[in-house]
Amino acid sequence: AAEDGLNGWLRYARLPRGMLRHAKVPTHIIALNTSQASPVFTAGKELQKGIQGVLGQNPEVTYEGLHGRQGESSILVGTIEAYADAGGAADIPELEEDGFWLNTEGDSVEIVGQNERGALYGAFEYLSMIAQGNFSEVAYATNPSAPIRWINQWDNMDGTIERGYAGLSIFFENNVIVSNLTRVYEYARLLSSIRVNGIIVNNVNANPILLSLENMAGLGRIADAMRPWGVRIGVSLNFASPQTLGGLDTYDPFDKSVIAWWTDITDKLYEHVPDMVGYLVKANSEGQPGPLTYNRTLADGANLFAKALQPYGGIVMFRAFVYDHHLSHENWYNDRANGQMEFFKDLDGAFEDNVVIQIKYGPIDFQVREPPSPLFAHLPNTASAIELQVTQEYYGQQCHLVYIPPLWRTILDYDLRVDGQKSVVGTDILSGKTFNKKLSGYAAVVNVGLNTTWLGTHLAMSNLYAYGRLAWDPTNDDVRMLEDWTRLTFGFDETVLETITKMSMVSWPAYENYTGNLGIQTLTDITGPHYGPNPASHDGNGWGMWTRANEHSIGMDRTVWNGTGNAGYYPPEIAAMYEKVETTPDELLLWFHHVPYTQRLKNGNTVIQHFYDAHYAGAETAFGFPAQWAALEGKIDRQRFEETLFRLEYQAGHAIVWRDAINQFYFNKSSIPDARGRVGNY
Ligand code: GCU
Repeated sequence: AAEDGLNGWLRYARLPRGMLRHAKVPTHIIALNTSQASPVFTAGKELQKGIQGVLGQNPEVTYEGLHGRQGESSILVGTIEAYADAGGAADIPELEEDGFWLNTEGDSVEIVGQNERGALYGAFEYLSMIAQGNFSEVAYATNPSAPIRWINQWDNMDGTIERGYAGLSIFFENNVIVSNLTRVYEYARLLSSIRVNGIIVNNVNANPILLSLENMAGLGRIADAMRPWGVRIGVSLNFASPQTLGGLDTYDPFDKSVIAWWTDITDKLYEHVPDMVGYLVKANSEGQPGPLTYNRTLADGANLFAKALQPYGGIVMFRAFVYDHHLSHENWYNDRANGQMEFFKDLDGAFEDNVVIQIKYGPIDFQVREPPSPLFAHLPNTASAIELQVTQEYYGQQCHLVYIPPLWRTILDYDLRVDGQKSVVGTDILSGKTFNKKLSGYAAVVNVGLNTTWLGTHLAMSNLYAYGRLAWDPTNDDVRMLEDWTRLTFGFDETVLETITKMSMVSWPAYENYTGNLGIQTLTDITGPHYGPNPASHDGNGWGMWTRANEHSIGMDRTVWNGTGNAGYYPPEIAAMYEKVETTPDELLLWFHHVPYTQRLKNGNTVIQHFYDAHYAGAETAFGFPAQWAALEGKIDRQRFEETLFRLEYQAGHAIVWRDAINQFYFNKSSIPDARGRVGNY
């Protein structure tokens, strides 16, 4: 059963007998003109493995070419180039980088990629179909919504993982790269199946020791382990490395010796990792060093790395997560949410072409509810990417079931109305359409660890699965993705499918209800582990995740007329909406406005009564999870059944802790009792 966890959604479990009857799959696989360790070679092997598992058949694989086998029923997988060389049909629709064509019509199956990676993605698509008992005839091409579909791991060199909830690192231990990279290979397999094409392997709070010669060789081994799956690696850099590792007396990005140092490091890295995808840089943020120390701009800092990477075609993901974490809360007009706007809005166009600004989806930090970062609308001349979080830092740290795509959807589907035109974050801005950009896309902090479930718990894997699917196509349906994942992970039982879908789809709304509503943020312990309720920790410190709750009123006034002005950073139509209480949607009321507890919402309730009611409703939903899951006993294997039940029982209890802690806190502040008599002085 540990195997089940490790394979995630790639178990290739044998189809039930009734479904096997409809199975129609060629018995011969041809991986066109490929060499070992390349993605098309991998595709051949994976197709063989999948068909063995799903159908119990033993297809043969050949790697050379067609060799007179034209006309025979086969599964053909290869690049468009190899396909054309082999005399393949010319009527395949246009493919973009990483795209593929899948044709199951007739006796043979054609899987043709724009490149090797695309061919492998196509093989996984076909396997996903047959593993779900789908033998229908299809013929279509699919292309990615954006070229950048990356993972960030926050792994430290000592083997711990920042905000990781699934054990120690699969990459590092004792300041070096681990010797056995089996788990890294297996991880790349999962990533490739969801069309992730890049991964930053170390923490954004980067340790320069990764750049030692020994570790560069280790990075070479990591790259070798992931390359067969078409996953390219990159690294996070510490801006001060020339000083701390290189022994220079400065890390000023304009200093010649500093430029030479980074150029040399980059050259050496490419000797070990010739296809390195690039760098990720967190600078001048939360105490990290950066160019501002030398009165250089963030663009000067980013361009330093961009230039070193240019000869190799690498890119710099430069994080927009820059803010002052010693902000004075006494000043009503201060606002952490304005940080990234203040730092970046005037730098548009100052970055080299291979710099991509990586922007967290909301202006603060992966909260349970945020509006989209206004910065998405302000970089017409600079490439940008969104940063999401699969590791559930603020969403219950994998001890709570929270299916995150519905939260991501509030951002990806958001129309920012740039220049009064339709500019939906996913399909227009991140796809590069709105500002006509070649580079753009997605990064997600994932933080898998050595735990055999990868993320610490089985159900959390639906988030990783859905992340990849959304980065490929942000219009993918939340329920459809979940159903695919559930069938691949747990099989075909209808009750299992319905239960997991139902629980997952109510899980984020429930979590929002019992943690923090109306845009007040996840009311967790923000100065400590970000776990469990602690609304008091939000105010009175420099971190800027303020609620400004007092005896009468609550919320951040981000209006232009009376507050921090943050609402004014949105394009005019959106800014006008958020400027007024009346036009601000309830779910973001306290994000944009400071109002009395007795303020009426659109649904007629007061703010305080909504708090009470929502916390009860959310906790009640979570309380129902264990019984729903318990009804699945015998329908899935015992180990995964019990491990999941254990987590859900914990969540049910912890949701009550959340409910009571938050409700009592706001009763104590406001002295307004619950109209329904549940919260008060009794
Ligand atoms: C959050 C998180 C930190 C992390 C930071 C970042 O604040 O708690 O651990 O370093 O984000 O994204 O850089």
